[in-house]
Amino acid sequence: MPSIVIVGAQWGDEGKGKVVDLLAENARVVARFQGGNNAGHTIVRGEETFKFHLIPSGILYPGTTCVIGNGVVIDPSVLTAEIDGLRDRGVDVSNLRVSANAHLIMPYHLMLDRAHEAKLGKLEIGTTKRGIGPCYSDKAARLGIRVQDLLDEKILKQKIMAAMEPKRLMLRPFERDPALDLHAMTEQYMLHGNRLEQHIADTASLLHRALDDGELVIFEGAQAALLDIDHGTYPFVTSSNPVAGAACVGAGVGPRDITEVWGVAKAYATRVGAGPFPTELDDDLGEDLRQRGGEFGTTTGRPRRTGWLDLVSLRYAARINGMTALAITKLDVLGGRDTIRVCTSYRTDDGAELDTFPYHQTVLHHATPIYTDLPGWQEDITGCRAVEDLPANALAYLRFIEEHVGVPIALIGVGPARDQIVWLGERSPLLAA
Ligand code: IMP
Repeated sequence: MPSIVIVGAQWGDEGKGKVVDLLAENARVVARFQGGNNAGHTIVRGEETFKFHLIPSGILYPGTTCVIGNGVVIDPSVLTAEIDGLRDRGVDVSNLRVSANAHLIMPYHLMLDRAHEAKLGKLEIGTTKRGIGPCYSDKAARLGIRVQDLLDEKILKQKIMAAMEPKRLMLRPFERDPALDLHAMTEQYMLHGNRLEQHIADTASLLHRALDDGELVIFEGAQAALLDIDHGTYPFVTSSNPVAGAACVGAGVGPRDITEVWGVAKAYATRVGAGPFPTELDDDLGEDLRQRGGEFGTTTGRPRRTGWLDLVSLRYAARINGMTALAITKLDVLGGRDTIRVCTSYRTDDGAELDTFPYHQTVLHHATPIYTDLPGWQEDITGCRAVEDLPANALAYLRFIEEHVGVPIALIGVGPARDQIVWLGERSPLLAA
């Protein structure tokens, strides 16, 4: 039962979409298991660039079934627009399957996301304002509206009423907004239901069949370990679990169904939104990384915060995910420097040296990085396709990461195009030739 979970190993935007895209060609199913349209994956295919927020990247392969699992929160207007956009470009979306149990982002979730952030003022989390947190809150409070509710108008209306009731006070500033009108909202969501009906399915059973048949299944994570609501830098996190274990819960499979866990990390680090980021470069070097790496959000367009690679947090991410391999993306962006810094431990406020990720928020907020300086390389590596093509110092940088994280690197990215990769060591035996 070969299956691979692909997860983000830092703060998101590591290039998971590109890795999934590479593996998806041989996959029977690609399944999303958490998050929503707070995610954004960019896939470059020849001259064309595709941006996905909800639909798994595998949709570009006609033989691959794409699943949006029960753990995902879905804004149906975004999903239908994405389906239309793909159809307009000639992509067949008939293989898209949406879990009947996935929860729906409602107009009031978007309003509440904005209102909560505004209320926090300077302490804001910097959410994507896509309604993700409020939707997961309703799910936990058992006030959520699920995809299957779109198929029954009476139930849908009752559930919307029940969900809105406890929010009256918070929603008061929006009460004149036509999007909050119960009848209009029900009608709008019934229309979405009509559009999506052909895609609604028992996605867990579909995955069981593929796994039982021994087909390759890919679980596509969104966001990343350090944004995990349990294991990340709470409260500056998203409202779901982007770690590999969540693939089981969010897709409806068991831990023994997972064969490999690949963590995707950039060769440096970025973060969008607020929260601790020990290796952040708030200077020209950081700006240079932002410009050279094109570090602007796919979803919100926000400039990303940039910094050196942090091996303390990467080791932590490797452990909580049970990573079997790493994919290191954007190595080309580090080219042309005399020295590359890598954070190998933190210095705490009281002068202690920490080589494990601190569990206490205050310690992390005050942690300063302790760096090892490694020699850089001047060569342009965007044309490299084999390990032998890489400059010795680039390879030494990768080996340093492997050694300090204790996880082998399976592949590296040397540019945005699909073929701009170098396989390091053995190709995964899961991938057919
Ligand atoms: P939310 O997921 O919109 O609630 O945002 C919570 C935090 O997660 C914010 O710091 C966002 O910037 C961050 N975040 C959410 N999705 C992504 C993503 O796909 N990439 C990077 N950061 C993200």
